[in-house]
Amino acid sequence: MRFEDVKTIGIMGGGVMGGGIAQIMAIAGYEVIVRDLTNELIQVTRDAVVEGRWGMKRAVERGKLSFDQCAEAMERIHFTLATRDLHDVDLLIEAIPERLDLKQQVFAELDTLIKPEAIFATNTSGFPVADIARDVSEGRKALFAGMHYSNPVPTMRMCEVIYTPQTSEETVAVVRGVAEKAGRAVSMVKDEPGSYGFVMNRIFAAAKREADKIVEAGIATREDVDRAMITGRNWPAAFYGNRGGIGKQW
Ligand SMILES: NC(=O)c1ccc[n+]([C@@H]2O[C@H](COP(=O)([O-])OP(=O)(O)OC[C@H]3O[C@@H](n4cnc5c(N)ncnc54)[C@H](O)[C@@H]3O)[C@@H](O)[C@H]2O)c1
Repeated sequence: MRFEDVKTIGIMGGGVMGGGIAQIMAIAGYEVIVRDLTNELIQVTRDAVVEGRWGMKRAVERGKLSFDQCAEAMERIHFTLATRDLHDVDLLIEAIPERLDLKQQVFAELDTLIKPEAIFATNTSGFPVADIARDVSEGRKALFAGMHYSNPVPTMRMCEVIYTPQTSEETVAVVRGVAEKAGRAVSMVKDEPGSYGFVMNRIFAAAKREADKIVEAGIATREDVDRAMITGRNWPAAFYGNRGGIGKQW
């Protein structure tokens, strides 16, 4: 598979990240199929993509997207409850909850259902990609990479592309090309056994550990720590406020 061959992207799991990834990929011109567990969950994701704080209507209002681009992108996003509807996607991006056993099990199923030449990517926050790929066929392991986005996806340009010893160069080129076409700034990251968090989350977690030590020692309050980082480093949010921290909505 070459980068130019990618036309359709499957997203396993809507939700906060799956919806955001679907949105940027549809705007980039890809056909997108999002699979989730219930119609109610699908509706929540659809509402976020259309009406949400980081959704397409707001992007039109802010002049980031034309009305026609928004309407066309919406037509490219399809939702399904049936995993078999993903059988012909060229690239599958997984964004289900952060549980290693669940991801392993879901990828093993996807491996049997999706065409053998399709590329698989996980948006895990930090599990080693080789662990997530443990139960797929040897052939698919060459087509397996990490594609880690940051929340909220439509505004955060980061994409960490994680490669294992088995990820082929062609796979890396495709994943990187798709991320860049969707306007992301790619950082390449080598998969590391036994680690958690790639680059961004490892560094954030280290800074958070230091912030916790400062608060516990009574050196500064949580509010003062947040204020120092927001006003001194221009961070949009820090560690403790409602808008800050890993996994929180900004
Ligand atoms: N939220 C963040 O800030 C953030 C940032 C980067 C990466 N991530 C990672 O992205 C992944 C998803 O996180 P999220 O915050 O979007 O979670 P979320 O709970 O908002 O979304 C997960 C979605 O997956 C669906 N799902 C669960 N099991 C499924 C299955 N078997 N098949 C299809 N869909 C299924 C759920 O119904 C839900 O809609 C996690 O691995 C997380 O660590 C999250």
